[in-house]
Formats: sequence, C-alpha cells, structure tokens
Amino acid sequence: MEIGTLSETRPEVEAVVVANEAVPLDHFPSLRLVANFGVGYDRIDMAACAARGIAVTNTPGVLDAATADLAFALILAVRRRLVEGDGLVRAGRWSGSWSEGFLGREVAGATLGIVGLGRIGSSVARRARAFDMRVLYTGRTQRQTELAEFLPLDDLLAESDIVTIHAPRTPETETLLDARRLALLRDGACIVNTARGEIVDEQALVRELVSGRLSAGLDVFAHEPHVPDELTELPNVVLTPHIGSATVETRAAMTRLVVDNVLAAERGETLLTPVVG
Ligand code: 8YV
Repeated sequence: MEIGTLSETRPEVEAVVVANEAVPLDHFPSLRLVANFGVGYDRIDMAACAARGIAVTNTPGVLDAATADLAFALILAVRRRLVEGDGLVRAGRWSGSWSEGFLGREVAGATLGIVGLGRIGSSVARRARAFDMRVLYTGRTQRQTELAEFLPLDDLLAESDIVTIHAPRTPETETLLDARRLALLRDGACIVNTARGEIVDEQALVRELVSGRLSAGLDVFAHEPHVPDELTELPNVVLTPHIGSATVETRAAMTRLVVDNVLAAERGETLLTPVVG
C-alpha cells in the first residue's frame, strides 16, 4: 500500500484508506473502495459513493471493548475526581489531611443512561452491571434485553446520574443533546462522550460545565482537534484526545480488517465488513 494524500488527483488508485475523512471522489476516477479505519463513517459521502458504485467498509466489532473501557475510565475518573487529585498531588498541594475530604461519588448504586445500545453501548452496559449500577438505555429501537431498561430519551436524561453516548452521528443524532435536553439532567449529573462531539450542542454543554451544574468526561469534540478554551480550566471535566479505539490490540485488529477488506476488493471477493445503506 502507498501513502498518499487525498488532495492529489490519482487516476490509477482503486482503493483509499481513510480515518473518517471526506474523500474528493473526482480525484480518483478509478476508485472502487473507500476502506474506513474506524466504525463511524459520518464524514464519508455514502450517497456519492453509491452513485459511483464505490463500496465503503468500516471496522465494526473489533473496537467495542477498547471504547467501552475508555467510557468507563472516564466515568470513574469524573466520579472519583482522578485528574483533579493527580494534579493536587503533583503540585505538592496534598497536605495529608483527611479533613480536606476530596470526596467523589460512587458508581455502585448510581444510574447510568446509555444513549445507543449497539455493540459499544452493550459493552458499556455489561461493565456497568459488574459495577452494580442501575442501567437504562434509549435508542431508535427498543430491544429485548436483560442488559438495561428502555426509557425514552427525555426520561432517561431526567433519571440518570451519568449519561454515556454510544450512538452514531447521523442527521437524527446531530445535537440530539441540545440545551433543552441538557437542562433535563439532574444537578451534579455527568455526561460522557466517546462517540462524536456533534451529538451534543457543545456550546450549551460548555455553559452547563462552566456553571458547575454538570460534570463531563469528553473524548470527542465538535471541531476536533479544537477543544473549547473554557473546558481546559475546569476541575469538573476530564478531557482525552479521541482515543476510544487507541490500544495496541484494537488498532492492530482495525488495521487487519482494513487490509483484509482492501485485499478482498482487489481479488474480487466478498468484502468482510461493508457499510450497508
Ligand atoms: C477513529 C473512531 O476512527 O471508530 C471510530 O468511529 O472514531 C475511531 O476509531 C480512529 O481513532 C482513527 O481516527
């Protein structure tokens, strides 16, 4: 495989590997495959690809555990004030006194609301149950499942101590959590987002976080790699640089799947993980 840029016109190229980037299709007149390194393909123009007969593949399944682990790491980090505590110790400001408290909140007994109970959301639900949480979910479809109890989105927001987002970004989910819906969350509730920044109205979330009413663990942002300045100063927010799938094991599995899809396309075989629709 050759590393090139999407900005050059390459008439001979039949497959491109991208990480959820818009592909200028007119640069690649012979293109037959867009292989996406990631499960989310919201920046790829599926209609334009379909119109040109170009197949699109993604990497579902192999990144569920890594992403669910990160969501859970953010939940625990926010609830137990991990980053704030680390900063205190490193700054030499820990006096050793118990009276300072530094109290967090437990996850056991807390209610977790999962927005999107797909593969990653279900992995989060399994972790949450092992941590003795009450688990709710919402989504387009209500499923028969022992993992979590279904509630409509607005009710889930009002009932949850922690809300974690695991839905794809689509026209229906863009700013799904807008100012009105964020206002439904309980005082002290926590939002965790390892899906896509655009699913939350970022400015409305920033206002809630600056006021101190909510806390958050955020791995994704509306205009990456830009992170709103206000967030970097807040003690009630934990920030990570879009690392949901960033483990050695998962990135190796994603790479294998991308390569196998490209090879299948080259040999005229059935694609392993085509995006359908
Ligand atoms: C990124 C992701 O694709 O799978 C997704 O949808 O957002 C990630 O896995 C990956 O970090 C490469 O940018």
